[in-house]
Amino acid sequence: MRRIAIAVAASTLSLSLAGCGMLGATDEPGEATPTKGDDVTVGLLMPEETNTRYEQFDYPIIKAKVAELTNNKGKVEYANAAAKSSTQVTQMERMIEDKVDIILLDAVDSKSIADTVKKAKEAGIPVIAYDRLAQGPIDAYVSFDNELVGEVQGRTLVEALGSADLSDKVVMMNGSPTDPNSAQFKQGAMSELSGRVTIPASASFDTKDWSPVEAEANMTKAIAAIGASKISAVYSANDAMAGAIIKALKKAGVSDSEMPPITGQDAELSAVQRIVSGEQYMSVYKPYPQMAAAAAEMAIAKARGRDIQFESLTRDEVDSPTDKGIRANLVTVVALTKSNIKDTVIADGIYKVSDICTAEYKTPCQAIGLR
Ligand code: BGC
Repeated sequence: MRRIAIAVAASTLSLSLAGCGMLGATDEPGEATPTKGDDVTVGLLMPEETNTRYEQFDYPIIKAKVAELTNNKGKVEYANAAAKSSTQVTQMERMIEDKVDIILLDAVDSKSIADTVKKAKEAGIPVIAYDRLAQGPIDAYVSFDNELVGEVQGRTLVEALGSADLSDKVVMMNGSPTDPNSAQFKQGAMSELSGRVTIPASASFDTKDWSPVEAEANMTKAIAAIGASKISAVYSANDAMAGAIIKALKKAGVSDSEMPPITGQDAELSAVQRIVSGEQYMSVYKPYPQMAAAAAEMAIAKARGRDIQFESLTRDEVDSPTDKGIRANLVTVVALTKSNIKDTVIADGIYKVSDICTAEYKTPCQAIGLR
């Protein structure tokens, strides 16, 4: 909670500084020659639409911040690849042809996009990897702390099990193998789960394209292999898959009150409602306003050639398989359970109580004091 309060305060502060013209809104003597004023075009590439965060949070918040930082003169050229890496290549090539000033890239496939990143660089367009660490000569990376996401999921799952031991069988539903975040989530989760619970080989899955349909089919396989009543918990890397896993468990006859603890990530509205009703144990709340604001500030600073400001926004460092010592900005995250809905998604204005507590959820909402 405290971390979020600090994080939000910090992002508000940097935005208000920008609003006063202190953070790159006007020319600053002594810095690199400004190449741009307010007429900046940011190319923004998002990976897919099945998970709701990109259309609901990332895109609109970045768009609003770009407007705010450029006196409403800056533009966002937007494209969503609907989970197709070839579509994303075409979309990014179009942005290069259109000569956007800077590209924010959330890659469908971090490896296969590397050649297009190189093309952008050759055309003089800087590329900032957003959320997923794209390979190739990127200028910087802005993301949530992905290993921490996995740790938070794993830790909360062990807490939910109470006296977890190796007789507890846990199903593990990981994300897409073309997304480097998946491996980081898994690594973070395993640092908490290893030696504490058993993850049978027949119950650990990668999920093509992060597809909930795929996750439901894999969960059905796990149920067949282990038996629904013998599953102590399910590690699901995100919320949309958690929804699909719950569907599979229900089809196998598991009632709401018998649901094992299930994790998630993204704080999707339907997941928050499932947390209220007790079907899903937790999600990970990633403060979207904070990361989207950081991304917009980085993009505008870079496009304007404000090197000192850009460096101050990227104080972390990461390595990709192709590039070492990439400047980065990693934003922290927090576990979201029944106990802190008010202090996280409500406090940050992500949802109103009325969004969550619709007629169907009235009673469980009242039970946890959400009104
Ligand atoms: C993101 C998650 C998201 C997943 C599926 C990951 O790279 O970090 O927030 O749920 O992709 O889109």
